Amino acid sequence: MSLTAIVARALTVDFGGALALDDVDVDIAAASLTVIVGPNGAGKSTLLEVLAGAREPSSGSVEVGAHSRAFVPQRAAVSEHLPLTVRDVVSVGAWGRAGALRRLDASDRAAIDAAMVRLDIAAVARHPFASLSGGQRQRALLAQGLARRAGILLLDEPTTGLDAASAERNRAAIAHECARGATVVCVSHDDRLISDADHLVELDAGRVRVAHASPEGVRAARAPVR
Ligand SMILES: Nc1ncnc2c1ncn2[C@@H]1O[C@H](COP(=O)(O)OP(=O)(O)OP(=O)(O)O)[C@@H](O)[C@H]1O
Ligand SMILES: [Mg+2]
Repeated sequence: MSLTAIVARALTVDFGGALALDDVDVDIAAASLTVIVGPNGAGKSTLLEVLAGAREPSSGSVEVGAHSRAFVPQRAAVSEHLPLTVRDVVSVGAWGRAGALRRLDASDRAAIDAAMVRLDIAAVARHPFASLSGGQRQRALLAQGLARRAGILLLDEPTTGLDAASAERNRAAIAHECARGATVVCVSHDDRLISDADHLVELDAGRVRVAHASPEGVRAARAPVR
């Protein structure tokens, strides 16, 4: 059985220069891991934002089934100056699910706690978010995405710039989300995450070069030629 979680057609994003996305069609398979690869500036983040509903395309369509979406951007917009604890930051994911006017219930709190344990940040739950290391921050932001308990998770470079242990934590959390039946879409340059992928979408200069190629094929294509 192969179901499609997101169908995007003829996506174009025009920032005023060259098109960031140029007539992109992609089908994102449900309950699997899709990794979007490609060189810097290829349009990967822009495509993920459009698939997440965080950016309106200039033209084209994105159809999402009944599933909710959780989006973890490449660079977090959490102010250094807000007096937020790590738990507060993770809880934002549950607020996104509940709606800001509803109190968090026991299942929300359980999801927040489970996400912090999974990303190994439970011990710093009461610490100010601003006091965390870069790796811990990335884990907290991924935990925020997990706390949303969405059907579709969209993650922009979830292991980039992390120490080996943090990167492994994040890959394990992503694998766990896929195992529970979530649809996960990651932008990544991480060969290990690419190896875990069920599907790959390769972007180059705003166009899809290879959709649904094998991870091995893309790794071979990315290997330096000397
Ligand atoms: N807000 C913006 N305003 C103007 N141009 C933008 C904006 N965001 C992205 N771009 C441009 O659109 C193109 C695609 O950018 P995008 O961030 O999607 O690439 P990317 O593949 O994610 O790159 P990276 O690997 O560096 O993260 C680039 O040329 C970039 O300069
Ligand atoms: Mg990017």
